Amino acid sequence: MLDTWFGFVQSGPGVIVGAVMASGGLGWLYWWLRARSRRSGEAPIRTGWLPYLGCAIGFGKHAGNYLKECQSRYGDTFTLHIAGQRMTFLLDPRDYHTVLHDYKHVLSFHDLAVEISARAFQHPRFDELVGEYDDYATVTKDCLKGTELVQLTHSMQSNLDDFLTQYGQGTWEELSLYDFVYQAMFVAGGHTVFGKGFYTPEAMEAFRNLDEKFPLLLAGIPHRLTGTHKALSSLVEHCATLYPEASRLTLERHALMDQSMDSATKGAFQTAILWAAQANTIPATFWSLAYLLQDKEALPVIRAEIERCLLDEPNGEEGAHTLDRAALKKMVRLESAISEALRLCTGSMTVRHVQEDVEIPLKRGDTLYLRKGTQVALYPYLTHFDPEIYEDPTSYQYDRFYSEGKPPVFRKYGEKLKYALMPFGGGVSICPGRHFARNEIKLFVVLMLLHFDMELLESDWPALDQSRAGLGILPPVHDIPVRLRRRERST
Ligand code: HEM
Repeated sequence: MLDTWFGFVQSGPGVIVGAVMASGGLGWLYWWLRARSRRSGEAPIRTGWLPYLGCAIGFGKHAGNYLKECQSRYGDTFTLHIAGQRMTFLLDPRDYHTVLHDYKHVLSFHDLAVEISARAFQHPRFDELVGEYDDYATVTKDCLKGTELVQLTHSMQSNLDDFLTQYGQGTWEELSLYDFVYQAMFVAGGHTVFGKGFYTPEAMEAFRNLDEKFPLLLAGIPHRLTGTHKALSSLVEHCATLYPEASRLTLERHALMDQSMDSATKGAFQTAILWAAQANTIPATFWSLAYLLQDKEALPVIRAEIERCLLDEPNGEEGAHTLDRAALKKMVRLESAISEALRLCTGSMTVRHVQEDVEIPLKRGDTLYLRKGTQVALYPYLTHFDPEIYEDPTSYQYDRFYSEGKPPVFRKYGEKLKYALMPFGGGVSICPGRHFARNEIKLFVVLMLLHFDMELLESDWPALDQSRAGLGILPPVHDIPVRLRRRERST
């Protein structure tokens, strides 16, 4: 045996390389044939050429462009092999309802969510803990609506007011807009949800570090290799603490966790909520304000609407306006402008895990066979930039979602769409913080336009950072300079 091996080695490296190539080639062929196998009724499939990675590199460069290219080749439904996963994309928004609601019993969100969160935040999976995933989801949902939402909105205004007092007291002050928004929302949002004293520069730096590496963490690269180990452990420790004046959301989650968890586990679960509450809100707020500032027509219209709506509102302490939910709701043009900014910067992907072999009906008339263990994905970015749904889709039109007295209608193939705009996901995984997030963005824009004159300074308009496609709102690839000064009659 040894002789044979020795003789084989002696016969030269060429033979070894040949043998390795032959066995590697066979392995590759096996992978490729398996990956391409297609049952009757399944969508067309693209495997890519790299074992395991499949189409991951092309997809990761610019998911929107990659999917568009696949769409023009295969139509609205196709399967891609991405990092070991078989993902079937459904790009016709008329099919979204079928995936999110009609077949929710076989298209599950739960497994994926638990796995991703456990991997990124290093907490145990829910099935290893006392207490149910559903208990946490219910508490979280309940504490982000109704009277809790009123309280959160009120507290956010006061925390934003506190933060903004330090700016623009003298003449024009120059700032980098994304950094400014980042700090304002992290400080005010942190104090609102987690309590007074939550913000520290170290906590914000750790959060930014962790968030920047998030695409790598989701791809399964461990914290040790992404250099986020320290940032995560300091955030976990920071988030395990209860701060004074914490929101009901934080108090109720702590109460639930106190029954069963140690401090590190609590901190990890709270870090997950911190990420959910901040990672999308910060870039969404940036784009909402930045788009308004670059639109000479929109800015005066929105400012006039804000001032008009506030004339009806009673003044609070020291003559400051209380921007309660009712007042914010009246700002319908601003609401439209925020929706338009969200349309242009959404990179969220809604994914479901197929629990059993199933055939689902598609709106175009045929049925689609989905295999157990694969994934189904919706990518609203493409809907948001579809010229059949949105005329001139790459342009910012602040009043695109404003329609007097009734909700605006968008159509595809002549049919009215339920999911024309989907920044917050849909179905069971729809973002429970969506109403609070919209209020936070509105509050920030209102306070900025009420209290400050703001101007963009000369710079290139930033592109969306496509490396975060699938994660939520896409941040800008670079910051933009602005200047601001306090307005004379600001209240
Ligand atoms: C503009 C801001 C925001 C956007 C665009 C956004 C978007 C989303 C999306 C797309 C999902 C669903 C993910 C999926 O289907 O896999 C989600 C989930 C979630 N969001 Fe938001 N979100 C925002 C702000 C917030 C805020 C402010 C909070 C809380 C204070 C929050 C809490 C959550 C939670 C807890 C989940 C997980 C839901 C679950 O596991 O069932 N989000 N968000």
